[in-house]
Amino acid sequence: MAIGKFGRYDTGMMKFLPPSANNGVGPVRIAHISDPHLSDLSGVSWQQLLSKRILGYLSWRFSRRHIQRLDILDKLLNDLSSNELGHLLISGDLTHIGTAAECRQVRSWLSDLGTAENISLIPGNHDYYTKDDISRTFGLWSDYIASDSVNSDNHKPPLFPSFRQRGPLAIIGLSTALPTSPFFATGELGQKQIQDLEQLLVKTKKMGLFRIVMLHHGPLQTSNKFRKRLRDAHEFRQSIVSHGAELIVHGHGHYPVWDFLQSDKLKIPVIGAASASVLSTSTSKRSGYNLYEIERIPEGWSLRVQSRRLEIEAESYSVLKEFELNLPAA
Ligand SMILES: [Fe+2]
Ligand SMILES: [Fe+2]
Repeated sequence: MAIGKFGRYDTGMMKFLPPSANNGVGPVRIAHISDPHLSDLSGVSWQQLLSKRILGYLSWRFSRRHIQRLDILDKLLNDLSSNELGHLLISGDLTHIGTAAECRQVRSWLSDLGTAENISLIPGNHDYYTKDDISRTFGLWSDYIASDSVNSDNHKPPLFPSFRQRGPLAIIGLSTALPTSPFFATGELGQKQIQDLEQLLVKTKKMGLFRIVMLHHGPLQTSNKFRKRLRDAHEFRQSIVSHGAELIVHGHGHYPVWDFLQSDKLKIPVIGAASASVLSTSTSKRSGYNLYEIERIPEGWSLRVQSRRLEIEAESYSVLKEFELNLPAA
């Protein structure tokens, strides 16, 4: 199936509301998907595979392409399109081995899905698989990644952290993606990105915004196996505990997560999304996504979370978990 020509999903169906649609009154509804791994590697050349990519290609050839399916992603988008959304977050791993051809396929898919005004994304480890010229790979998605202050028309590689304001929301995008040795899928933020994140958290706190921090790798001690871990997760957690945030969202694990980053003073929800495209009989690793409704209340913020999961028999999505939190003002 050609990318951008989706079977069931009508690309004109996704409904986005402008951030000012409700004049700042009432909840803002946003969606979060992750790890769609939507590219097709059928035409990849053997020259492109003379690297760690051969392992990723073999994984796709004999396993991933059978369980990560565009028709499932279409079903998810159909379910999602029944909502009027303020914004869509995509927390990385849109490709399998991050080739330029894959990134062009993703670019086409993104253009069909919505504008950069309505969609924010970050790369995952699969999108930066080997050392490449980023401007030819995930840099092609720069306008969906870049900060509001950056003119992304020049297609420069995006800088992190990114900061986008949409109504009362501060969407802060981080990159944990970097090439790793074979058999490793670790990530790292680096000292500079963490320092810049701290400054952004301070700035957006002063602006009175609901701060959403989006990264690919789960940041908790329990998030990942050793070979898939975020190497400077401890430093990230220290920064968040020092400067606060209202919500942390991530992907990478391909299963849903509902947890908290806690200290004596703070309790910050950490929500992970399953892979958007997986068809699996496993109930924990099956296609799903999250909806968040965020509303300013006198005490601070109300956050309602609904996680939806594919029901294989019914070929539809249903509520997996739903809860509401009241978060104090920053
Ligand atoms: Fe992934
Ligand atoms: Fe990943």
